[in-house]
Amino acid sequence: MKRSFSKVLRTLVVAAGLSLSLASGLSYAERAQMVPLPSPSGVDHPLYVPANPNKLADGTQAQSQPANPSIFTAPNADPQNYVSIPDRQAGVLIQRAGQEWRLIRNGIITVYGGWLLAIAFFGIVAMYILKGSIKLHEPLSGMKIKRFSLFDRFVHWTMAASFLALTFTGLMILYGKYFAMPVMGGVAYGAFLDVCKNIHNFTGPLFTLCIVIFFLLFAHKNLPGKGDMAWFLSFGGIFSGKHVPAGFFNGGEKVWFWFGMTFLGLVISASGFVLDMIVPFMQIEYLRGTMQIANIIHSSAAILMTAMAMGHIYIGTIGMQGSIDGMKTGYVDATWAKEHHELWYDKLNK
Ligand code: HEM
Repeated sequence: MKRSFSKVLRTLVVAAGLSLSLASGLSYAERAQMVPLPSPSGVDHPLYVPANPNKLADGTQAQSQPANPSIFTAPNADPQNYVSIPDRQAGVLIQRAGQEWRLIRNGIITVYGGWLLAIAFFGIVAMYILKGSIKLHEPLSGMKIKRFSLFDRFVHWTMAASFLALTFTGLMILYGKYFAMPVMGGVAYGAFLDVCKNIHNFTGPLFTLCIVIFFLLFAHKNLPGKGDMAWFLSFGGIFSGKHVPAGFFNGGEKVWFWFGMTFLGLVISASGFVLDMIVPFMQIEYLRGTMQIANIIHSSAAILMTAMAMGHIYIGTIGMQGSIDGMKTGYVDATWAKEHHELWYDKLNK
């Protein structure tokens, strides 16, 4: 009994000693001076590192990278060392292209992409302030015309919801560390970003599926047709106020369909499948270089699509009276159909 008591006591003393050393080590580390390391990216610039090094230690401020730029910019090719495991990449300890990728991602894409999104957003706000919502010239007739089926609307809203989830989580992944991390703190932000990343990874394939179905449903209604050229030449009469007759979809909607949804959607989906490592029917080696290129293509196309989507969402909601009705209820008022899609309206009334 006596011996076991002394054993417990000894264990407690050792544990207390270890805890004390750990705690004092941590508090010393928190107070230790941390010199900002140089970064050529322009975003992770040393000036962004706070004077208070505790901010670095508690994770509320990112530390500048890289640790030693000369390693990454040396002219030699990446040294390939010998490894006896199947993972070929394990033999490359420092992949120099990774540094270039980091500069493109945190520099060009982050900065110019941010400008593009800001210009699109404030351009729309300015248009709303200056021109306001596009109103109907005639009063509503009360006569309803069927525009979209229940299935059309289900696919569209699933696509829209998954897009919004992807946009929010994607922007967090790219920009969150600049505004959310300082507010939330490093630990909470890390957990939050982990959730964002998983939502992003699993929602991507759903978005792709919606794009494919929506494409099959509406490609025939987006073929070039009468009225498109006139629509492009006057930009839909938005600035002149002139009425431009359009078919079921107008020229602007067709650009959104072919370039915005189909082309950008497929580029984002293909690169996203590579990043998710789930490309079907193909033998792809998910090497670091492949992932870096996929990442650059993915984020550039996604930012472009988000900027275009802002315009689409604006016109589909507060930017034009009655435009949401078709996607909400399946029906539009005859006055709306006549004023915005006159060629379609005339065809129905033939
Ligand atoms: C919350 C966001 C969104 C809103 C409020 C919205 C609203 C609308 C509305 C009202 C229409 C019907 C326009 C008409 O009757 O002519 C429409 C059509 C359409 N939407 Fe959306 N939408 C949203 C998100 C998206 C997203 C994320 C995509 C694609 C990724 C998308 C792709 C389309 C396409 C392709 C059409 C048909 C245009 C055409 O085929 O030419 N929408 N949307």
